[in-house]
Amino acid sequence: MTAELAFVAATEADSDRLSDIMLGEPGQLTTDVGMRLFGMSDHRKAQRLWRIINRNGEAWRHVTLAKSGGETVGILMNASLDVSLSASLLLRATLMFGPLWLLRLPGRMKLQRRVQTEGPAGAYSVSELHVAPSARGGGIGAALLVEAEGQARAGGHDAMTLQTLTENPAIHLYERFGFEVVETRTDPDYEAIAGVGGYHRMVKRLA
Ligand SMILES: CC(C)(COP(=O)(O)OP(=O)(O)OC[C@H]1O[C@@H](n2cnc3c(N)ncnc32)[C@H](O)[C@@H]1OP(=O)(O)O)[C@@H](O)C(=O)NCCC(=O)NCCS
Repeated sequence: MTAELAFVAATEADSDRLSDIMLGEPGQLTTDVGMRLFGMSDHRKAQRLWRIINRNGEAWRHVTLAKSGGETVGILMNASLDVSLSASLLLRATLMFGPLWLLRLPGRMKLQRRVQTEGPAGAYSVSELHVAPSARGGGIGAALLVEAEGQARAGGHDAMTLQTLTENPAIHLYERFGFEVVETRTDPDYEAIAGVGGYHRMVKRLA
């Protein structure tokens, strides 16, 4: 499957597709954790909001697509999205999810911050790595990491870094690729809402 893969920079026209791959599907760990944390039970509404956030934040500017037979099957993002909570975004989200959602939002964002870790200065950051559900298990995730390492070396970085949920099976993929856990941040209040302990910060040194 990886033999026919091509890696291309995303364009604005790819915004919704990359957003959908990033959000994932119900039942997927990262999707369920995000929806629980931000008090969303309707995946279609979450998808609508997430598409708006990614369009507004121009996420596509930081995304490399993995393409197979012309289809986008995976995404690599190398910068964290600066989600600016404009009044219009909050209004749209409140119309979708209700006023209680808005009231809970600051507390949920605070919980999210409690388990966030920071990568070493100057490291290339794999901020998002996702493969479309039907294409998983065929080496595309590993191939995207090889692509990321190529970008990191070309950019003169001496390390790569990423953050992953403490329960994410993707940790095995990262360890196989040479990443090591350098920090773990968990929080009981976060776990009570999100259903997972927190995050591991992982680093791979580039010799
Ligand atoms: C993680 C992910 C990008 C890997 O892509 P992939 O093309 O399936 O990966 P590969 O085929 O190259 O490697 C398979 C490895 O993926 C990991 N994996 C398997 N199932 C997984 C799942 N449901 N969720 C996350 N990782 C998984 C395992 O480490 C597996 O290796 P192992 O079988 O030796 O344990 C993909 O599973 C995915 O998009 N998962 C959902 C989103 C996610 O968790 N992204 C990582 C955020 S840090």
